[in-house]
Amino acid sequence: MPAPRTETLNIQTKPIMKVLVVYHTTYGHTLQLARAVEAGVKSVAGVEAVFRRAPEFPHVEKELEAGDGYATKIWKDQKDIQPCTLDDLREADGPLLGSPTRYGNMTAAMKALIASTASLWLSGAMEGKPAGVFTSTATTHGGQETTCVTMMIPLIHLGMLIVGVPYSSEGMLHTEGRGGTPYGATTTAGPKGELAPTAEDLVRCGNPSDPGWGKSLLESMTRGGLWVGKGAVTCGVTPCHARWARAGFALAGYGPRRPTVKCQAARWME
Ligand SMILES: Cc1cc2nc3c(=O)[nH]c(=O)nc-3n(C[C@H](O)[C@H](O)[C@H](O)COP(=O)(O)O)c2cc1C
Repeated sequence: MPAPRTETLNIQTKPIMKVLVVYHTTYGHTLQLARAVEAGVKSVAGVEAVFRRAPEFPHVEKELEAGDGYATKIWKDQKDIQPCTLDDLREADGPLLGSPTRYGNMTAAMKALIASTASLWLSGAMEGKPAGVFTSTATTHGGQETTCVTMMIPLIHLGMLIVGVPYSSEGMLHTEGRGGTPYGATTTAGPKGELAPTAEDLVRCGNPSDPGWGKSLLESMTRGGLWVGKGAVTCGVTPCHARWARAGFALAGYGPRRPTVKCQAARWME
């Protein structure tokens, strides 16, 4: 009697989702948050984490190279991390962007990266992608909320769906001197950068056991990009968006694929 035929199925285990973690930092706090975000991304099966830094301005690079202070040390520690390109953004199924605050806004380097995406905006390449933001501030009220919310605005123009940190996330209701906003993961670095992100701050960045941001964001990406949270299209006014974010909704704006907006875009390009 012939032996039963056995077949080996050649199943390729290809990552189904590519999550881009892109950050900017001067003193390393946002880098620490970014690494925690990356760890959260990597903990989800079928998801590939792409880790990038926002390109530094040449004149700042020159200063950092010539210096010998703490910022130079942090700069040199990042030598093996590739700068983010437009292709990285285009190829990402979902980007997560982190920037320290500068007067309540993202840094110029992160803004320059986002401002270089005109071709992605015109082609609608980023539309419908889930996105999240995270930040570091020196002080408790130095801009955790404003930095996150202002970082969201260009992402909404690009047509992305923004997710904040739901209040069901562990440790969100607190009065301590640490991060934890509904708009994105945050940390408080201290006026001299003397503080480190707390364990709670890092959990909010991407701990897989966290029922909030990390889990809802990453698991939704693994489900083929379908959003598991509730979507909300709002009027586009920041306080209105902020209200939705506080309620745990994902945000959506009108991307350039809407015919009227596209016509306007075409006019701008003339
Ligand atoms: C020009 C400038 C503006 C800043 N503005 C603020 C601010 O508005 N609020 C605040 O809390 N910290 C402010 N900081 C401090 C940085 O946000 C702080 O150094 C940063 O969060 C540390 O993150 P990093 O270690 O990732 O660089 C500012 C720093 C600089 C250099």
